[in-house]
Amino acid sequence: MSDAPELPKKEEEEEEEEEEEGEGTPEPEEQSDDSSGEEAAGDTEMDFLRNLFSSTLGLGSPDKVLDELTLDGVARYIKSGKCTNIICMVGAGISTSAGIPDFRSPGTGLYANLQKYNLPYPEAIFQIEYFKKHPEPFFALARELYPGQFKPTICHYFMKLLKDKGHLRRCYSQNIDTLERVAGLEGDDLIEAHGTFYTSHCVRCRMEFNLQWMKDKIFSDAIPRCDKCSSLVKPDIVFFGENLPARFFTSMKQDFPRCDLLIVMGTSLQVQPFAGLVGRVSNSCPRLLINMEKAGQAGPLLGLMGFGGGMDFESDKAYRDVAHISTCDDGCLALAELLGWKDELEELVKQEHARIDSRDEKEKASEKEAAAAETSSAAAAPERREEE
Ligand code: APR
Repeated sequence: MSDAPELPKKEEEEEEEEEEEGEGTPEPEEQSDDSSGEEAAGDTEMDFLRNLFSSTLGLGSPDKVLDELTLDGVARYIKSGKCTNIICMVGAGISTSAGIPDFRSPGTGLYANLQKYNLPYPEAIFQIEYFKKHPEPFFALARELYPGQFKPTICHYFMKLLKDKGHLRRCYSQNIDTLERVAGLEGDDLIEAHGTFYTSHCVRCRMEFNLQWMKDKIFSDAIPRCDKCSSLVKPDIVFFGENLPARFFTSMKQDFPRCDLLIVMGTSLQVQPFAGLVGRVSNSCPRLLINMEKAGQAGPLLGLMGFGGGMDFESDKAYRDVAHISTCDDGCLALAELLGWKDELEELVKQEHARIDSRDEKEKASEKEAAAAETSSAAAAPERREEE
């Protein structure tokens, strides 16, 4: 298994699509528009280099914003009212308590449990060229992982509170489970950097299909094929070998220089270009990691290679990075308590979960009724053989 960080790019897929397609062009959202990426990368590379030289050479030492490199210090900073541009960067670790496994946790992570699919290497299941030739393993896995319920976690709802209280600028998520949307983060609040299951498109004619259509296909054991041209239909998740949505690059350029607190949760920060975002905030912007393990630490060398300045939690030069090692839910609850939001957060989770449960019960009841109606009408229909 090559666990080396992959750079999801779309060039090869785009050439192939142009040959195959012949009609219609991918939605702008889906076109790999590297120009904005290059331009954004260019500008932010210059910002990055300026920050790197100033922080590495100690030129223009950055302001020390936190009075203490702890969760308390972060909470006091948020309570000061100076944080109105918080960016959350999240990964699979914020959804594990919702029953969705992450990728790299030893033993439980997805990549440690793919033997039955006989893949050349685990990440092949999310590799676009492999998917186009062998879509079966991906859809079998999708059926296995399809969430029984879409119930966001305490961490998701903490981000919703940050939004409601006017602190959240944007949530950059690597997750495809749509739980941020279910928790109430709407379009503009959210950048789904690795795409989403929420919609799917035909790889050839680009016809769009919704989540229910894809769910029905996934559970019918059939490989989803386009109703219009019978080509393969792929959920709008970003496979290795594809580029990230153009919105990722355009928003990154606006957001990260203005970020006044970066909160990174539930990610190993192994995959570029997402992981490199941590180095794109200004060098005085505090960065809080809430995770079961430290992540995102890298020396200035990686930074010089364009991967962004890594986190420094414990050296004697540490001045702005805080690692709160715990589950995302416990970390968010602890931060909420320090902010005086704990009761409000717990009440929000309780109400939302009750709403989702009752909606799901209603849906199950109507599905049962529909199935019963179908069997009884089949039973009532005269057997063709008897008539003959
Ligand atoms: N609380 C806190 N941290 C957790 C929890 C939890 N409940 N569960 C897991 N974690 C941590 C793990 O320790 C790990 O550091 O979350 C991180 C999850 O890392 P990964 O499994 O690598 O997931 P992620 O970082 O989201 O992967 C990034 O890799 O394969 C690609 O496209 C895929 O988006 C994915 C990307």
